[in-house]
Amino acid sequence: MRVDILTLFPGMFEGFLNQSILKRAQTKGIVELHIHDLRNYSQDKHKNVDDYAFGGGAGMVMMAEPIVLCIEELCAERSYDEIIFMSPDGELLNQAMANQLSLKNNLIMICGRYKGIDQRVRDHWVSMEISIGEYVLTGGELAAAVVSDAIIRLIPGVLSDESSALSDSFQGELLDAPVYTRPENFRGHIVPEVLLSGDHKKIDEWRYEQSLKKSERHKQAEE
Ligand code: ADE
Repeated sequence: MRVDILTLFPGMFEGFLNQSILKRAQTKGIVELHIHDLRNYSQDKHKNVDDYAFGGGAGMVMMAEPIVLCIEELCAERSYDEIIFMSPDGELLNQAMANQLSLKNNLIMICGRYKGIDQRVRDHWVSMEISIGEYVLTGGELAAAVVSDAIIRLIPGVLSDESSALSDSFQGELLDAPVYTRPENFRGHIVPEVLLSGDHKKIDEWRYEQSLKKSERHKQAEE
């Protein structure tokens, strides 16, 4: 999979994408991540990328041209499955969406800043808008990082133990059971005895029960 991220703040991705599992996915050649600085596509001598909103009002709007020039450059090289705009009014990210996106080959993610991007880009170039939650961030960068992480870890070969992605919370109907590691007694808090029993049938039953309980609590909290 190839992901191209369009942003005014490329530095925000440096640490995040070059650590841990995302780094390994790139080193293994499973994923290519390319960060594009939209300022490099500005046609103006001051490298401006934003301007006042027509009709007035507070806040600057990201201009269409730098974004579209970058999209055009990328689309001339390969075809993209989705051109995604990260936006609080987009479709809410969930596991089903992450699963579907993880099957794609080429994705563009556009990170907005300020008051947003010129609506014409959204109307004529963007194929999908994703929100990572019902709150407003200062820009789409964190959202693009979240979406990238959620989808890249699902690509076969990225996680060393692939079954662990399949047993994730939200992957099936149920949330994950609680997990414990050494020591057995941490400051007087003891690991559930069944997990130390070596009886795998009992352990599976316990985990299933815990998953049911947790899922039920989660559902009630949502209602
Ligand atoms: N940009 C600003 N807030 C956002 C959100 N909640 N999701 C996606 N992109 C955003």
